[in-house]
Formats: sequence, structure tokens, C-alpha cells
Amino acid sequence: MDKIVIEGGKRLEGEVEISGAKNAALPIMAAMILTTGQNNLGGVPQVRDVTTMLNLLNDLGGCTEEFNAGRIIFDSTDINNFEAPYDLVSTMRASSLVLGPLLARLGRAKVSLPGGCAIGARPLDLHIKGLECMGAKIHLEKGYIYGEAKRLRGARYYFDTVTVTGTANLLMAASLADGKTVLENVAKEPEVVFLADMLNQSGAKITGQGTDLIIIEGVQSLKPINCHIFPDRIETGTYMIASAITKGNVKITNCIPKQVESLTLKLRQAGLIVEEGEKSLRVISDGQMNGINIKTQPHPGFATDLQAQFMALMTLAQGKSIILETVFENRFMHVSELKRMGADITIQGRTAIVSGVKELSGAPLMATDLRASASLVLAALAAKGESVISRVYHIDRGYSNIEQKLYRLGARIHRKKIRN
Ligand code: UD1
Repeated sequence: MDKIVIEGGKRLEGEVEISGAKNAALPIMAAMILTTGQNNLGGVPQVRDVTTMLNLLNDLGGCTEEFNAGRIIFDSTDINNFEAPYDLVSTMRASSLVLGPLLARLGRAKVSLPGGCAIGARPLDLHIKGLECMGAKIHLEKGYIYGEAKRLRGARYYFDTVTVTGTANLLMAASLADGKTVLENVAKEPEVVFLADMLNQSGAKITGQGTDLIIIEGVQSLKPINCHIFPDRIETGTYMIASAITKGNVKITNCIPKQVESLTLKLRQAGLIVEEGEKSLRVISDGQMNGINIKTQPHPGFATDLQAQFMALMTLAQGKSIILETVFENRFMHVSELKRMGADITIQGRTAIVSGVKELSGAPLMATDLRASASLVLAALAAKGESVISRVYHIDRGYSNIEQKLYRLGARIHRKKIRN
């Protein structure tokens, strides 16, 4: 298990290029199950979750013909196995994205339940209810979801909670269902809109993506997917905060400024300068920063996937900030580690009250989940002295070359390879 070692206190400067969006790539990869033939994806990030999904798709009978330099060429013709086993699903919740496509294509699915998760219960009940509404017979047995449906049929379904992968799962299933499906209270995240657009390019008939209501007219078959994944908005936001927390001046290239507008506004409110280009952003700090409040919400609200990183930033702001997490019930795993670095944070239910301190000090740290780990890296970049972050496999799930990118911006960071 590798460790990342950071000697903090270095101002970051220069340019960093953003990789493709992990959370856009994963549903598109699952959607390849709906197709027969050679799919061609560009701009795919080199992160562990992508490799896990590819392993799962190969396990289902597909064939990866190429996977390098951000390109995946994948032949989905021979997909014939309907089981997503525990050892693959347990390492990545997004594996459950194969449930809808397997039911739609093969009429059967056996997908392991992902189980508990560090950031909350994260059940799949809404995915399951939606598929049942479409005629699937589903039961849970020995930790697996078993689903069967000769052919799914169109239905009207309302999501009690806005769910990103839930929306994606039903969207994919409905694309090959018999008749019309209407999904209400759906996720409006850019990754969901992209999935719908790419399915349409392959022959699906989807309208309403980006609004609360999506309508899908089922079709008989879909052509292979040919697309380029757009840049990762969470990685973008993480580097914006990296510049802010190190009192830096960093230009972030190959990004979509509109997708991180809620963060941009909050950074400006805190006193940072954020310059927007067409496909770039520059975050400049003059060293002054005041505490401000945020509340996480589904898109276009403040992304829960940037909450931990923003909290790291607020530990060094002047005054108090109140951080309300409304999407997940237990997403403050980073707090105890930040406190070990000298942060002043109090938790009350889903609210964190952060009182800014003058400085953080480096410490041995433990990564607990993907975004929490990113917040520890950010805090360590700003802290006085050395931090050693262990369990960095969490970071590798979603950040492409994080230590090289930060190193090029001037951070004193390196990875310590530990052989098991
Ligand atoms: C996705 C993202 C993740 C992000 C999250 C919220 C991917 C691969 N992952 O995760 O990075 O943090 O959106 O933006 O895109 N819920 C239920 N029942 C369900 C499904 C969800 O109650 O059947 C609840 C969850 O417990 C949570 C809320 O809905 O409280 C939102 O979760 P959801 O949008 O489903 O998160 P994911 O799609 O798993």
C-alpha cells in the first residue's frame, strides 16, 4: 500500500491540465453493455475505478481491444454473462451501474450488493424499485440482487431522492425497454446529461436530460458508442482549492468553468480571485481569506464531492464557516484527520462548524475515502512540516497522476512505493 509524502508550505504556481471525468466515464462504460460491436471512448482518465469497470465488463464476456493513453476500444458483441461478482462490486459502488443494462440486454442480472460504504448507507432501493416498475422481478439473496425480465416495459417512475447512478441505471434500462418511460425528480448532473446525449447518438430516443423529468422512448437496439469524455469537474475543483489553500496562482486548463460555477462563486465570496477563460480557470490568492458557509446539494448546487476539499480550505480562513452536508448522512470522515493537523472543527449532525486557525501542522494521516483523501492532500500542501498519507489507493480510484500534477505545480510531494 503506497504512501504519499508531502512537505507542506509551498505556494503552487503554473498550469495543470484536467483529465477526463471519472463519473462520466463509468456510466458510459456500463452503457456499452446495451450495444453490440466495437465501442470507442476517448478522454478516459487513467484511474483505478475505470480499470475496475473494464475488468467487470470483460468478466461479463466483452473484450477490451485497447486501453491506453485515455482510449478504450471495447467489443461488446459477446457479452453473455449476467453476474457481477462481489470481489469486483465491493471495491466500487458504481459497478451497480451494470444492473439496468444487463437486465435490458440479457433479461437477467445477478449483481452483488455493494454493502456498507464509508460515506453513508448509500442503498440501491430506488434503482430496484424503478426496475420493478418496469416489470423486472427482483429479489435479494445472500448479498446479491437477482433480477429477471424477458423484456422491460416502459413505465412512469418518481425518484423519492435525487440519485445520480439511480437515474443513469434507469435511463439505460429504459433505452431498450418496450414503450415509453417517464422518470421524474431525476439527477441533473452533467454526467447524466452526457450519458443521455451519447445514448441518443447511438440511436436512443431520450428527451428532457438536464431537467427534472426525462422521457425515454424504448428502441430495439443501440449502435456502439463513439465519444470523448469531458473534463472532470471534481478534479477541476480540487486543483482550484489547491491553488487557494497554498496562496498560489494556478491556471487550470482543459476544464469547463460553467460546471464548477457554484465553487467559483464561493471562492470569490471567500476573497479569492477566480478568472474564467473559455476552457480554463485561474485561481489567485493574495493570502487573505474569510470563512464562508456552504450547503451541499444535487447539481447545480455545491457538489458533495467537493465538500471535504472545501472544508480543508476553510480550516485556514479567518473566522467561522458552517458546512452543511445534505446529500450523504456520514460524509465527515476527513474531520478527525484534519483535527489531528490542528484544525478547529465541531460536528453537529450533518453540520460542521469550522473556526479558522493560523496554521496546520503536518502529521501522519489516513485516507478513508476518495474525496476525503483529496482533502488531506490539500491540507498537507498548506501545512507546516511533513505529512505522510497512507491508504492512498482511495486517491488512485479517482485522481489521475495526482502527485505528478502537484509536483509540476511546485509541491514537494512524492509517492513511497510499499511492497506488500
Ligand atoms: C454519485 C457519484 C458520487 C457522488 C454522488 C452524489 C458516480 C459514480 N458517483 O454517487 O461521486 O458523491 O453521486 O453527487 O457518479 N440514495 C437512496 N437510494 C438509492 C440511491 C441513492 O436513498 O437507491 C441516496 C443516497 O444514500 C444519497 C443520495 O441518494 O443520500 C444521493 O446518492 P446518489 O446520487 O445515488 O450517489 P451515487 O449515484 O452513488
